[in-house]
Amino acid sequence: MRVGVLTGGGDCPGLNAVIRGLVRKGVQEYAYEFVGYRDGWRGPLEGDLIPLDIPAVRGILPRGGTILGSSRTNPLGQPDGIRRIKDNLAKDEIDALVTIGGEDTLGVAAKLYEEYGIKCVGVPKTIDNDLSATDYTFGFDTAVGIATEAIDRLHTTAESHMRVLVVEVMGRHAGWIALHSGLAGGANVILIPEQRFDVEQVCAWVSSRFRASYAPIIVVAEGAMPQDGDAVLKDGSLDSFGHVRLSGVGEWLAGEIERRTGKEARTTVLGHVQRGGTPSAFDRWLATRFGLHAVDAVRDGDFGMMVALRGTDIVRVPIAEATARLKTVDPALYEEAGVFFG
Ligand code: F6P
Repeated sequence: MRVGVLTGGGDCPGLNAVIRGLVRKGVQEYAYEFVGYRDGWRGPLEGDLIPLDIPAVRGILPRGGTILGSSRTNPLGQPDGIRRIKDNLAKDEIDALVTIGGEDTLGVAAKLYEEYGIKCVGVPKTIDNDLSATDYTFGFDTAVGIATEAIDRLHTTAESHMRVLVVEVMGRHAGWIALHSGLAGGANVILIPEQRFDVEQVCAWVSSRFRASYAPIIVVAEGAMPQDGDAVLKDGSLDSFGHVRLSGVGEWLAGEIERRTGKEARTTVLGHVQRGGTPSAFDRWLATRFGLHAVDAVRDGDFGMMVALRGTDIVRVPIAEATARLKTVDPALYEEAGVFFG
């Protein structure tokens, strides 16, 4: 059995741990051979691969990023993309393809399996934690840890200058990173994409925080939107899957707060810091287990399936089910955090 592996979409901490788990178990227990396709779907599109043996995966468990490289290449957006992938997989004698990715990469895998019979097994990853069918994706815990540490640090500087600090976090159209890091970091306002926010209400919370002689910290998800109007964007550009590139709401909100309250406000955009560096222990644990279970799915011929976390169990679910809808923050969960606002 010769297994291809690829990592697609935005990178996230834990990708290397999955690759190591897959290769260690596959080679040791099942005598499989592995190859790694470079840069997500670009690899099988162009037949760009590297051998993946046990020495190649030694020492990579704590390393961020992905030794295979990643990209947002969309083969479905290219006229002969599917044919080229099929031809290259046949030429490279690939019996199964493990695709490690988020909504977009796995969406392509689901289509390749369902419509073209390509034997894919999926592994969910994304710092956004927005994939349904799995309780958590790896990368999320690390991102929340980084954002929480940043919020802790911003509290002290905000207090020293008695100014508002707005922290913009990633998460695309889901508020998981904002909600978890905001709660963990003791933010005074948390704004998520799932609930439009009222700028006047935010300003009222800011003023009440100052009245209590403390400086407010506002955590805003990059996809959060004001009640009146659309998403606030730095530029409206799209990626190759047609997603608009988010970011800009933090800067905009700080401007509005200054204008409406007269208080000085600054913005910190955490950006890709949230995706870089070494994975947390939880993400290493989850990613390693995903790798071990994904190779078992290959052994069982369970194609078109994705590994997922349910409680502490790793289960298998159809890839298509996991990509059918986004997992967003439940209003009741968001309401819980409201007690700390203002
Ligand atoms: O999906 C992960 C993510 O980091 C989002 O939170 C963010 O909106 C997007 O990717 C950024 O994409 P890029 O790295 O292509 O700028």
